[in-house]
Amino acid sequence: MKSTLSIILLGASLMVSAQQKTPVYLDVTKPIEQRVENALSLMTTEEKVAMCHAQSKFSSKGVARLGIPDVWSSDGSHGVSDEKLWDEWSSAQWANDSCTAFPALTALAATFNPEMASLFGKSIGEEARHREKTMLLGPGVNIYRSPLNGRNFEYMGEDPYLASRMVVPYIQGVQSCGVAACVKHFALNNQEICRGEINVNLSDRALQEIYLPAFKAAVQEGKVWSIMGAYNKFRGEHCCHNDLLLNKILKQDWKFDGVVVSDWGGVHNTDEAVNNGLDIEMGTYTNGLTTQGHFPFSSYYLADPFLKGIKSGKYEMAKLDDKARRILRMIFRTTMSANRPFGRFVSPEHSEAARKIAQEAIVLLKNEHNMLPIPVGKYKKIAVIGENASRSLVVGGGSTSLKVAYEVTPLQGIISKYGKEHVVYSMGYASGPSLYGREEASKLNADSLLNAAVELAKTADLVIFVGGLNKNYFQDCESGDRKSLSLPFGEDKLIASIEQVNKNVVVVFSSGNAITMPWLDKTPAVVQTWHLGSEAGNALVDVLSGDVNPSGKLPFSFPKKLTDIGAHAFDKLCYPGDSVNVQYKEDILVGYRWLETKKIEPLFPFGYGLSYTTFVYSKPSVDVNEVKADGTVKVSFTLTNTGKVDGAETAQLYVSKSKSVVARAAKELKAFKKTFLKAGESKTVNIEVPVSSFAYYNESKQAWEVESGSYSLLLGRSSRDIKGKVDVKVL
Ligand code: BGC
Repeated sequence: MKSTLSIILLGASLMVSAQQKTPVYLDVTKPIEQRVENALSLMTTEEKVAMCHAQSKFSSKGVARLGIPDVWSSDGSHGVSDEKLWDEWSSAQWANDSCTAFPALTALAATFNPEMASLFGKSIGEEARHREKTMLLGPGVNIYRSPLNGRNFEYMGEDPYLASRMVVPYIQGVQSCGVAACVKHFALNNQEICRGEINVNLSDRALQEIYLPAFKAAVQEGKVWSIMGAYNKFRGEHCCHNDLLLNKILKQDWKFDGVVVSDWGGVHNTDEAVNNGLDIEMGTYTNGLTTQGHFPFSSYYLADPFLKGIKSGKYEMAKLDDKARRILRMIFRTTMSANRPFGRFVSPEHSEAARKIAQEAIVLLKNEHNMLPIPVGKYKKIAVIGENASRSLVVGGGSTSLKVAYEVTPLQGIISKYGKEHVVYSMGYASGPSLYGREEASKLNADSLLNAAVELAKTADLVIFVGGLNKNYFQDCESGDRKSLSLPFGEDKLIASIEQVNKNVVVVFSSGNAITMPWLDKTPAVVQTWHLGSEAGNALVDVLSGDVNPSGKLPFSFPKKLTDIGAHAFDKLCYPGDSVNVQYKEDILVGYRWLETKKIEPLFPFGYGLSYTTFVYSKPSVDVNEVKADGTVKVSFTLTNTGKVDGAETAQLYVSKSKSVVARAAKELKAFKKTFLKAGESKTVNIEVPVSSFAYYNESKQAWEVESGSYSLLLGRSSRDIKGKVDVKVL
């Protein structure tokens, strides 16, 4: 009895001493900052340096001795990529990493619905969490400057306000899963041509008003835990180690306390990497070898050269401590957080989310003679024509290429909706195979493909053409820009030829970029579907059939021709640059800001999108006619669904100031609201706008300033279709 008691007492005292020994950094009840300082105090200089550079293609070291896990990241912003080999870009060929592909981010932006962004972030965050990722390499919020940029499909359109409103809930959704979102590419990565060295020059106003707001919102409102530097230079310094961008703007002005990760191969020298705000270096081929299996991670700019510099006193220990602190903070917020929920992977809920977002993203561009919707049974023979109907659009495109659990193609969707016996298919045109970094034409004969499709179209009651861009090099793809605004692969000729033999044609596009449509006058219906991911085919037929009423709006303008866009209205230096410099001569007039200010009619304007129903806006009113610069204006109006089907409408509020001390865009989006209305229903819609959002960036004061005087608030269905106007005076 006595000995049992002493064993119990001994056991209890061991437990107490074990508890007493638990270091603070492992105590999840302690504030993160205390844990960070404690961990830092236990680490050697070598261990701190080891955290600051890659140890494999997609990971960097933790501190194994202390039980601090490595940092694992994964692309991308619309699906969690497959595992890669330790030291190569190639797939590791695991059998358990096929993900759900959510729609690409232009599609998300087209929903104009922050709730969709939240659902997106939560769903993809759960997938990343299940896959044990510390960091998800996305979302991308570079502004759509030129319709030729190969990576536009990865971003959220041409308007800084829209991108800001969508990026914040996306980040919050991802991070609620205990995974750090990594907003990219900071900043000004607006083209792929010469992306590794092009030096971007632009005014402070354009920088602050157009290119930075979405990043700022990600940091200050989304509280993002990591950010990725861009490949290009800005004012002479590479963005991955750019004093102005990283030290001054991001860390000092915006108070970012997370981790700056380089883009893969975006670091170029140790001094700048140490001093100019970078925290983790990834993807560098330091020894110049392209045989990736053989270069040492220890020779990265932030590896041995950094360690040596610390030891010799060339670099301050405080610089290293700051980097290590930020990395530890991210680890304690994610993999070492007690609040980290479990994730899930390829769950039915994720498919449902992907389908819902895709449905809301689809934009109806044209619908004459009530071509759409197409009820089941209306047409006996439906000819589906076009390679994008059957081709995978989640494979290719560069780092966003996904290995998916499944992908419902448009053709599969159409067959399952309208019945196998009613659907026939012809490819019509062919692109080459999906190769990264090079172009290869298809070996199939273009004339034969076209003729076969036209013959089929003659016999059909309805033609659904499914084309657009794909994820090949020079299309919607990283590492290259498009060569023209036109449709590729002879699609224009094919569409025109089909229209000569059949009047019932619905044209459906997958693309993350604007295209020209020389055949538009003869085409009764056009639908823009972006790249919709795993549920592409299902979401498409949901809209085509009328099960879902389309409500997407364009997140960027479709110009009639390339030179109608500001970035292409000047010389080569403005786009794509002279291979050393690019000068953003259009300044703040990006996208619709240029078109509206210069009074150029687009093919389809920013914010445009039709519905199967009709909406009527009442005259808007404001709660105040005069307001102080720190006040808020409430705009109210009644929105009525005057048609026969339920639907949603995104009302957009643009601000315009005709008399100003600075040059201003004719109008700028400052608020939007998506409202669902049953057929015949009316609702009062209130939109609140803070007057601070009317500010311009005063370059001489290096500060935001709200000008006093009169402003017009323009309420519209798109940037061109303004339904009402009301003026306010700022005191
Ligand atoms: C891309 C990044 C991506 C990284 C890792 C780079 O080439 O620019 O967006 O996250 O590769 O795949």
